[in-house]
Amino acid sequence: MKKVRFGIIGMGNIGIHHFSYFPELENAELTAICDIDPAKLKELKIPSDFDHAAAAVLDDKIAKYTDYRAMLDSGKVDAVIIAAPHYFHPEMAVEAFRRGIHVICEKPVAITGRLAREMNAAHADSGVVYAAMFQMRTNSTYRKIKEMLEDGTLGQVRRVSWIITDWFRTQTYYDSGGWRGNWTGEGGGVLMNQCPHNLDLFQWFFGLPKRLCAVVHLGKWHDITVEDDVSVLMELANGATASFITSTGDTPGTNRLEITAEHGKLVLEEGRLTFFKTEDSVQRIIEQSEVGFYSVSPEVMEIPVETKAHGHKWITQNTVNAILGNEPLIAPGTEGLNSVQLANAVLLSGIRGRTVEVPVCEDEFDELLEELRADERRHAPDKVFDWEAYIKSFES
Ligand SMILES: NC(=O)c1ccc[n+]([C@@H]2O[C@H](COP(=O)([O-])OP(=O)(O)OC[C@H]3O[C@@H](n4cnc5c(N)ncnc54)[C@H](O)[C@@H]3O)[C@@H](O)[C@H]2O)c1
Repeated sequence: MKKVRFGIIGMGNIGIHHFSYFPELENAELTAICDIDPAKLKELKIPSDFDHAAAAVLDDKIAKYTDYRAMLDSGKVDAVIIAAPHYFHPEMAVEAFRRGIHVICEKPVAITGRLAREMNAAHADSGVVYAAMFQMRTNSTYRKIKEMLEDGTLGQVRRVSWIITDWFRTQTYYDSGGWRGNWTGEGGGVLMNQCPHNLDLFQWFFGLPKRLCAVVHLGKWHDITVEDDVSVLMELANGATASFITSTGDTPGTNRLEITAEHGKLVLEEGRLTFFKTEDSVQRIIEQSEVGFYSVSPEVMEIPVETKAHGHKWITQNTVNAILGNEPLIAPGTEGLNSVQLANAVLLSGIRGRTVEVPVCEDEFDELLEELRADERRHAPDKVFDWEAYIKSFES
């Protein structure tokens, strides 16, 4: 069978990880890599658990570029993984679509809803496959939750509560890369870097909320300008309420998702999934019970889930299979818009201090982001990251 020839753009932390699993993929080969920094191409920092001999062979065979457009024009790639910082994702994806090249885009697909929507528009007539690297969708626990929501096991969702605070980061983390932890470089904090996966899962499970109200703290626990502590209250399309709490400042952190639904309560905590199944529909009990203080005796079911991590490799293999027409995408890139719209709405609500409808007006969010960037330039010049100067620094 024809092999799909891949290029990776951005050979940093995650680019190297993508590089490392290519020999294990079926019907795919890595033919090119690109990084604006030539040093990253000379000495690939291969993870220690990877077969170094295989890496060396691969390393000799693959073409190397410092200009991603030259790689796209080389005729050597049918598909690319965009693993550069998020600032570049929209431009790189659109350039690939224009050339009929398939795309796997790292999360978040963009910083603003407007840019993510423009990517979708550029993709619409391109005829290529566009996937987003939302590898948590391959996690068997989340797949089970999705299944139980869709097959009627849970029934109508009545309330959702997700505390996802196991994204602890130190000041050293934020100080490690110039583009991180600021509005000019990264365009956001925990919502833009750590939580896109959870926001994607949230919308995958429950759809986008109708409206929300958030409390957002900027640099509460770290010397950064962006948000590192967020609490959101949402109203879902069916009228259920949902809360979502995240931070990079809590340790030990928590990942606890509780879904209260018509047929009981589903709890994910510490990797364990437990279903408390009620004997009847909760609403029917409320409406028809002749007892005022009714005590439900739920059947407690531990739901076995596989804990093996499949992650990034699974999404890339799935995209290869989709390109070859063999299976649908697990994480279509066009759905990347939703988590960006959700993050934008949370920031707008929290910073402006009001309830917002979702999705928020793109002009209003763009205006807010410009204000935050301007404030950063004025009040925290040491945090500012200048992308133009960064690109120029590699021009000889
Ligand atoms: N899906 C996941 O689990 C996951 C995990 C980590 C990072 N990410 C995402 O991947 C992206 C990269 O994150 P990272 O941690 O690897 O960052 P990083 O800074 O370690 O690596 C980024 C690389 O891109 C290169 N680069 C920058 N501008 C470029 C350009 N114009 N052309 C080509 N190369 C360029 C840099 O030199 C660097 O080597 C981010 O969007 C991040 O959110 C996703």
